[in-house]
Amino acid sequence: MKLPSRPQDKIIIALDVPDTDGALRLIDSLSDHGQPPSLCKIGLELFTAEGPSVVKAIKSRGCKVFLDLKFHDIPNTVAHAIKSAAGLGVTMTTLHAVGGPVMLEAAAKAAQESGGSELLLLAVTVLTSMDAAQLSSTGISLEPKEQVLRLAGLASDAGIGGVVCSPLEISAIRETFGDKLRVVTPGVRPTWAATGDQKRVMTPAEAVKAGSDWLVIGRPITAAENPKEAYAKVVEELI
Ligand code: C5P
Repeated sequence: MKLPSRPQDKIIIALDVPDTDGALRLIDSLSDHGQPPSLCKIGLELFTAEGPSVVKAIKSRGCKVFLDLKFHDIPNTVAHAIKSAAGLGVTMTTLHAVGGPVMLEAAAKAAQESGGSELLLLAVTVLTSMDAAQLSSTGISLEPKEQVLRLAGLASDAGIGGVVCSPLEISAIRETFGDKLRVVTPGVRPTWAATGDQKRVMTPAEAVKAGSDWLVIGRPITAAENPKEAYAKVVEELI
């Protein structure tokens, strides 16, 4: 998948709404002269409620789709799920790096065979909701940052195209892996937006400067009084 060059193409709008109507309303409210946001993220809530039809509905509005279902299962099952995602024509999809090298390799092969260069696979490393104590209770004694780098290494070795990481991990990922991995970052907050439940934040411009290729942005735009204006303000900050 080609790297975005225009600032607006670096923004992925998180469609954290319960149904297709809400998702389409949000896209329409952000469209500029009939031009929708270039990329939108469908997560577990929306996909579980609406299924593949919501992907089709959003694509027919002219948006590319990031299907964020964070696959983690035996290699054969994940490979087939990736093929199904490719069949829906999504542009990005996620899986958990902690599924291990065999699962990651099977996924990378499935993506290559079914989506080619049009489908970017992104590995989720350590969820930002996990801290050292949570990790330790699952038997992992590494610090979260060390575990992130370890899992990003597994993903990279397996031929996975990129990772999802918190803004605070972008620099370490870039230092270790250079341009080998694409980097997608949630948890960004413009200075004028509330942080909400996101604790480890950076502004959109800081995250791009640190090396993020795409930013996932939800509430600073979607919950703003005027979402279109907020969207335009974020784009402006990236110019
Ligand atoms: O509203 P907000 O900008 O916080 O939305 C961020 C989006 O990124 C949400 O869809 C959230 O689920 C997702 N996300 C995240 N942190 C992660 C992984 C995904 O905030 N570590």
